[in-house]
Amino acid sequence: MGFSFVGQVALVTGGASGIGLATVNAFAEAGASVAVVDINAQAARAVAAGLIEAGYQAIGLGCDVADTEQVHATVKETVAAFGRLDAAFNNAGIQNLLAETADASAEDYDRVMAVNLRGVWNCMKFELQHMRGQGSGTIVNCSSLGGLVGGAQRGNYHAAKHGVIGLSKSAALEYAARNIRVNAVCPGLIWTPMAEQMVAAGQGDALAGMTQAIPMGRHGKPEEIADAVLWLSSNRSTYVTGQSISVDGGFIMR
Ligand code: NAI
Repeated sequence: MGFSFVGQVALVTGGASGIGLATVNAFAEAGASVAVVDINAQAARAVAAGLIEAGYQAIGLGCDVADTEQVHATVKETVAAFGRLDAAFNNAGIQNLLAETADASAEDYDRVMAVNLRGVWNCMKFELQHMRGQGSGTIVNCSSLGGLVGGAQRGNYHAAKHGVIGLSKSAALEYAARNIRVNAVCPGLIWTPMAEQMVAAGQGDALAGMTQAIPMGRHGKPEEIADAVLWLSSNRSTYVTGQSISVDGGFIMR
């Protein structure tokens, strides 16, 4: 399915790697001007430079989504560069350190919540301030299958990802009658640098076991999440808001 975002502006956090990078590329190929936002400023700028070289419109911005002022500045810079903000994909996220609840550290809780939940809150706040004035916009937040079920030793991550769905539904309600839609996407196991880091951290057996439990029998590709994000951001989903769409090879259905 081809979507057109010609004349539109998209902002993607965590845009320098994995799911975010695939979505950045998809938005650019669909005609959007894209703000590539990442805590790795150098990588964000390199992605944007590659897109510009290929004839697309892009800007690379370094930003820690956990920092409210940095997020505010990033949204302002995006609007200053391209004049508007039509579609945001709040995707930046990190894993927790594996630990059962009795042993998990407060530092890990704060770190994961700051990026995975406060980060989404920060982004929505300033994106919505702009979209509210503009009178239009779409937001897709990146939750996870971890936003729908529990996960032993993964409580901090799963709690944050459940929270993303709560924030998304609440904002969707607030703006439903104001031409702004807010949805969440819940990826299953997607092969990205994050998945490779989990293998490197000794979680390879767990991921292999999980892959066996996926009804489709395989992990997903970042581009398969990008397709869902573009649909949710496009004018082909105009009656869809407040939803959490699983893109997981059928993993969560049982
Ligand atoms: P990744 O690790 O490949 O990419 C994440 C990007 O986010 C990196 O470029 C990183 O620099 C950036 N980032 C990290 N912290 C940041 C911060 N504080 N501010 C701005 N940028 C920051 O990860 P992947 O796999 O592409 O994950 C993207 C999202 O998808 C995350 O929210 C993750 O929780 C979620 N997800 C991933 C799944 C998977 O199997 N890969 C499954 C379910 C959800």
